Formats: sequence, C-alpha cells, structure tokens
Amino acid sequence: MSAALLEVVGITKRFDRLAALSDVSVRVEAGEAVGVVGPNGAGKTTLFDCVLGVVRPDAGSVVFDGRRVDRMPPFRRGLLGIGRTFQRLELFSGMTPREHLLVTERVRGGEGRLWKDVIGLGRPKPGERREAAALLELVGLTDVADVPVDALSLGQGRLVELARALVGPPKLLMLDEPSSGLDDAERATLVSVLLRVRHERGVSVVMVEHDLDLVTAVVDRLVVLDAGRKIADGPVDAVISDPAVRHAYLGVVR
Ligand SMILES: Nc1ncnc2c1ncn2[C@@H]1O[C@H](COP(=O)(O)OP(=O)(O)OP(=O)(O)O)[C@@H](O)[C@H]1O
Ligand SMILES: [Mg+2]
Repeated sequence: MSAALLEVVGITKRFDRLAALSDVSVRVEAGEAVGVVGPNGAGKTTLFDCVLGVVRPDAGSVVFDGRRVDRMPPFRRGLLGIGRTFQRLELFSGMTPREHLLVTERVRGGEGRLWKDVIGLGRPKPGERREAAALLELVGLTDVADVPVDALSLGQGRLVELARALVGPPKLLMLDEPSSGLDDAERATLVSVLLRVRHERGVSVVMVEHDLDLVTAVVDRLVVLDAGRKIADGPVDAVISDPAVRHAYLGVVR
C-alpha cells in the first residue's frame, strides 16, 4: 500500500479519567476528503487537536507526509502543510480580510519581517497580492476584501478563516465545523469553495461537520466517532446506512 498523506495510528487521549479518544486510527490519502462525524463529545475536536499538535496524545502516532509529527509544535506542522480553521472564530479586530491574508502569507514566507510589516513599513509583494486576491475570489469575499472584519457577518468571518487556512497552500485542510454560523447561501458557497479547493487546488480535506447534507456533498468517506471510539469508516453511503451509526446518531442527526 502506498504511503498515506495522513496516518493516525492508535491514538488514545484521556482527560482525567475520561477517555476522549480510545485507540483511534484514521488514514487519509492524498487528494481524498474525509468527514469526521459523531454526537457531541464524541472526540472529534480532540482528534483534530492531536493531528494539529494542540493536544498531545497519551498513546499512538501521527505521521504526515511521511514524517512523524506527534511531537512537533503546531506551527511546524502548519509549515509542513497542515492548514486549519478553528471551531470558534479567531480573527484580528480592525483588520480587513485582505490584510489577514497578506499577513498570513508573510508569516508563511518565513521572512522574519512580520512586525515590520504589521506596523506598515514593508509592502506586500505583487505575488502576495495576487495570491490574496485569488483566495478572496475563491471564497467569494472580493466585495468585502477591504472592510474591517468587525463589520462582516459571522458567516463571512468563517470564510475569511477558510481563505487564511488556504495560504501556503496546505496539502491537508482540517476544518472543525466550518458551517457553524453560516446561513443557507453561505453554506452553498462553502460547499462550492471546498469542491474547488479539492479539485482545482488538489488539497486533501478532513472536516468535522454536524450538517450531514453539507459534509456528504464534499467528502468521499466518513469516519464516525462515538464516545471516543471509531465505530465506522468507509464510503459515505455505506456508513450512513450502517445500523451502528444510525443508533449512535438516534435523536442527534436525522
Ligand atoms: N481540555 C479538556 N479537558 C477536559 N475534558 C475535555 C477537554 N477537551 C475535551 N474534553 C472532553 O473530551 C470529550 C471529547 O470532547 P471533544 O471536544 O473532542 O468532542 P467533539 O466530538 O468535538 O464534540 P462537539 O461535537 O461538541 O464539538 C468530551 O467529553 C469533552 O468534555
Ligand atoms: Mg468539537
């Protein structure tokens, strides 16, 4: 079998006596999109945090793009090509969507001139401007590119986060509930953006998402977690018709 882009093997994570994850393994191939679903408290965010480096697992390993990363700090995993959004918005007040992208490009460029640029002494290069404009167009924010994020809707803020996570570009995009706070039109935009991210940019996607219609419009495969255990992993249709999955979801998702 060829090497996977992401290989999580046997992750266990306890918080005090609660096992948030018990021996969970997940494999993601290059170019693949995988949805991670399950009831509240199932361990979805904890699994993300173990991949991103926010949480250190008690057991198990995480290999990304051929390298063991489970002892690396989050920023190094980011530089290797793991992009992410946050379950809650983490944007900078007073800055516009375009500025968010330009600053992120400069940081990713690793030129060590961040502070100089933030206080306005360095100008963005043409390549940085082009990439920022392309990402703003991709997520449908061109019209509000120069409006401070404070004046945007929550949904638009989420799309700023998504665009920021695409700077690099990453090889793998990790999205934790990207549709939360979005209205119907913004959800439709999100689906088309994620399909373009996959097919035009070749980025692999792993997303936690409660909206099953949305996640199944984007991904090929579903991983189901329940109380810290993986209870299903396979093609969307097979997983959705699995009796164990329906039982875990009873009363939670249609
Ligand atoms: N830092 C922490 N300290 C203590 N317990 C935690 C911590 N983080 C998560 N937990 C617990 O671990 C379990 C899994 O939480 P997690 O946030 O991973 O679930 P989730 O599937 O993302 O849920 P949701 O759908 O509500 O976002 C929950 O019981 C949660 O209360
Ligand atoms: Mg969560």
